[in-house]
Amino acid sequence: MTQYTAMVLSEGGKPLVAERREIPVPGPGQALVHLSHASLNHRDLWIRKGSYGNIAGLPCVLGSDGFGTVEAVGSNTDRHWIGSSVVLFPALDWGDDDAAPCPAWRILGVPDAGTFAEYLLIPVAQLFAAPKGLTPEEAAALPLAGVTAHRALFRRGGLKGGEKVLITGIGGGTAHFLLQFAVAAGAQVWVTSASPEKIAAAKKLGAKGGVLYTSESWAEELIAMAGSFDLCVDSAAGSGWSGICELLKPAGRLVFFGATRGAPQIPMRKIFFKQLDLRGTSMGSPRDFQAMLDFTQEKNLRPVIDAVFPLENVEAALQRIEQGSQTGKIVLRMP
Ligand SMILES: NC(=O)c1ccc[n+]([C@@H]2O[C@H](COP(=O)([O-])OP(=O)(O)OC[C@H]3O[C@@H](n4cnc5c(N)ncnc54)[C@H](OP(=O)(O)O)[C@@H]3O)[C@@H](O)[C@H]2O)c1
Repeated sequence: MTQYTAMVLSEGGKPLVAERREIPVPGPGQALVHLSHASLNHRDLWIRKGSYGNIAGLPCVLGSDGFGTVEAVGSNTDRHWIGSSVVLFPALDWGDDDAAPCPAWRILGVPDAGTFAEYLLIPVAQLFAAPKGLTPEEAAALPLAGVTAHRALFRRGGLKGGEKVLITGIGGGTAHFLLQFAVAAGAQVWVTSASPEKIAAAKKLGAKGGVLYTSESWAEELIAMAGSFDLCVDSAAGSGWSGICELLKPAGRLVFFGATRGAPQIPMRKIFFKQLDLRGTSMGSPRDFQAMLDFTQEKNLRPVIDAVFPLENVEAALQRIEQGSQTGKIVLRMP
């Protein structure tokens, strides 16, 4: 085989199209990975819809998450990687500082070619051994959402065992890792969702309970059930912050990394009178990524897979995310 299939976005708002490309040869410091699976993130949908802000680099192969086998490397010193099963660290050029990435930092998959393809050329620095015991689908589901969730809870959220944590929008891919990691760390976890079935599924993963964020009085209902919270991790923003700041304890922490429902309405008085701490986070450093992989293996955690689609059905997979139908991660299987 000298050619491979890649799903390419030419312009925001247009569908991804399958392209046949020549299999490339890795240069110094690069690896050629034969991907078996990739997984989707909400970011792919934002880019596909043309609503990811000022993004350059189209046409491009989308996708930040992948699992596969290293087939070739460009430098002799990297030959030990050949034949290894790897997950790809999707933060390119994060830099040396765990506190924040350097200005050159980019997320894999636009402007750099991403994982919705059978082959990918990637810097060797992005290769990490996959946690043992995971299926290829589970390994592909882990990278972006896993590192975001781990850093949000531990490095940025300062989570301690026994604390009470709220995770909003539990159907989401990242929210599922937040739930699994927080439960494994000994926290008491509560969730919100638009769906009673998703709350019931979260309880099976160890959540204490949850409420529907579609109810006007969701925050009061949650306080009545659970009392107040030490930490909330949110990626919906929009009108939800008023309720979140209501249910946090004095000096509580709100960690956030997304705005699925648009810019937050900020309840300033509640924030300063209660001395709340608002902490932004995004993905994570190489150390965060390794810590997340180690934690997943130590605790025997398995990513929750919502559905697996063939690579060329990526549009149907994106539609499932757009409709908010998923519970966990959506995976693509290569031909
Ligand atoms: N900065 C970063 O590094 C980073 C990393 C990962 C994700 N993100 C961002 O975080 C968000 C989630 O990403 P994802 O890939 O996990 O998305 P996803 O799998 O598509 O999940 C989105 C979830 O949002 C929930 N939701 C929708 N409206 C809500 C509301 N009003 N209140 C609370 N929850 C609501 C839904 O939960 P239910 O189905 O339970 O109703 C839905 O399942 C996106 O905005 C994404 O861009 C940012």
